[in-house]
Amino acid sequence: MAKNKKRRTDSSKIYRRILALVKLQWLRLLVAMLCMMLVASLTAATAYLVKPVLDEIFFNKNVRMLKLLPLAIIMLYILRGAAYFGQAYLMNYVGQSIIKRLRDQLYSHIQMLPLSFFHKHETGVLMARIINDVNIVKGMVSNAVTALLKDSFTIIGLLFVIFYRDWKLALIAITVFPAAVVPIVKFGRRVRQFSTRCQEAIADMSSLLHETFTGTRIVKAFAMEPYENKRFFERTLQLFKYEMKAVKIKSMSSPVMELLGGIGITFIIWYGGYKVITGTSTPGTFFSFMAALIMLYAPVKRISPLNNVIQEGLAAAVRIYDILDTDSDIIERQDAVELEPKDHGVVFRNVSFKYDEQLVLRNINLEVKSGEVIALVGVSGGGKTTLVNLIPRFYDVTEGAILIDGHDVRDVTIGSLRRQTGIVTQDPILFNDTIRNNITYGNLNASEADIIAAARAAYAYDFTQSFHDKFDTIVGESGVRLSGGEKQRICIARALLRNAPILILDEATSSLDTESELAVQRALENLMKGRTTFVIAHRLSTVRHADRIIVIVNGTIVEEGKHEELLALRGEYSKLHEMQFDDNR
Ligand SMILES: Nc1ncnc2c1ncn2[C@@H]1O[C@H](COP(=O)(O)OP(=O)(O)OP(=O)(O)O)[C@@H](O)[C@H]1O
Ligand SMILES: [Mg+2]
Repeated sequence: MAKNKKRRTDSSKIYRRILALVKLQWLRLLVAMLCMMLVASLTAATAYLVKPVLDEIFFNKNVRMLKLLPLAIIMLYILRGAAYFGQAYLMNYVGQSIIKRLRDQLYSHIQMLPLSFFHKHETGVLMARIINDVNIVKGMVSNAVTALLKDSFTIIGLLFVIFYRDWKLALIAITVFPAAVVPIVKFGRRVRQFSTRCQEAIADMSSLLHETFTGTRIVKAFAMEPYENKRFFERTLQLFKYEMKAVKIKSMSSPVMELLGGIGITFIIWYGGYKVITGTSTPGTFFSFMAALIMLYAPVKRISPLNNVIQEGLAAAVRIYDILDTDSDIIERQDAVELEPKDHGVVFRNVSFKYDEQLVLRNINLEVKSGEVIALVGVSGGGKTTLVNLIPRFYDVTEGAILIDGHDVRDVTIGSLRRQTGIVTQDPILFNDTIRNNITYGNLNASEADIIAAARAAYAYDFTQSFHDKFDTIVGESGVRLSGGEKQRICIARALLRNAPILILDEATSSLDTESELAVQRALENLMKGRTTFVIAHRLSTVRHADRIIVIVNGTIVEEGKHEELLALRGEYSKLHEMQFDDNR
């Protein structure tokens, strides 16, 4: 099997790709930016207004100002509130639409990837990409934009106020600031370290949850609940420890920062108070200065962990683009032709196939005429499922070619190829939906009469009608509420409704009792008429009426012919037959 080709995801290009995503919302972003600037300047204005309030109202006792200033303050807050709402709403709009777009892209891309991709990636991890990582990227985008615009503008505005009020004091305050930044950076780094570990612990935990909940029958059968509890408790304990470490650092950073701030402010009170007492400054100037300085705290605090958020976001984006950049190795040619719906002959020409390194099929040559029923038998692991999986291109051949009506399957469109095949897979796969919807999965346009006919032919009609909700019965996750044989019959009905010229039945009746199997068999025989059919079965009684039986051992065809011919050969087939005869006695 060719490996899933992966272009290396270049992290320097990640910025550009995310920017491209953001750009799609440029108008909203632009308005949001304007709102942010408005918020920033109005925040600075509130600090600025402290001086006239104090000096004019409280010291000069100016009555006109007593009327004007409160009105101005109210206006200011109303405006600022509106601008704040605007930027918050619009930024979240941009962020949420990035989430939606990335999720949709990821999901449809993953849907497009071949089976081999799913064999290499855990379900839980893929889910985490679509649920968590996308969120982290959104956090990065909205935090970065907000911080860069709103907070940095606010900081500039407030700095302007403090310099305007008292540039000497401002210079002192500014030199003290970097001293406070050092612990911020240090704390930030530690927090990030632990938040990464928390993320990993959460992924680990969800992986375990997925596995044990889907495998709950085995957990119970082997009475492993205490063991699974223990494994789960270990993970929650680990997560608890990391969370608490992060909490410790986070909770410590606040008081430390505040202490530093307090020391700074004490000094400024001392110096500013001295200036007011000696008459070189007014209380208004001083408090306006103080207000601006205190207001600086919040935006600086928000902007300081920005680097962490960006790093985390980039890491998540790399994980996302790693998947988006994984190309399918099942590629449709540009000039692919449509495969016409009609009766098809299938030819395997010198086909060899390997999963990764292991050669599973060797030199398969097989010519199947249109309408022929071919049975594939052989010991477990011989390569039967693999062989039929090559027909709808679940995998591509490593060597040789598969031809349908003379077309290499790689030369026709994947959609038209797969529309030609109805398949019942070895493990019956149903969705957690109604029986009707599971059957119509084969053909969404089927009429009720078609559904009933397919269900009847698959021997699935009578038992579904005995359920309270009949065809509207929900089957449960992967069909857990049905018996093995019932599941198989619904899968057969689904494949039949597809009404495809090539039918692949991989152990389709293995879970049925002899009586139902015979009945389904008979129904299938009618349906196989005129269809090119591949039947895989261990029970040789199932396949004895096939037009031709192919015996596959170790990836090669060792015998082929009709039942009696093969028995007469006294080779592999008769050996299998004898063993079953012994078993069945
Ligand atoms: N996804 C996979 N990746 C790697 N190896 C695989 C994969 N699927 C199957 N194999 C290997 O390929 C070989 C053939 O498997 P295959 O499923 O085709 O056998 P089979 O004849 O259908 O067996 P059974 O009768 O048990 O269904 C086995 O040795 C198996 O281990
Ligand atoms: Mg198989």
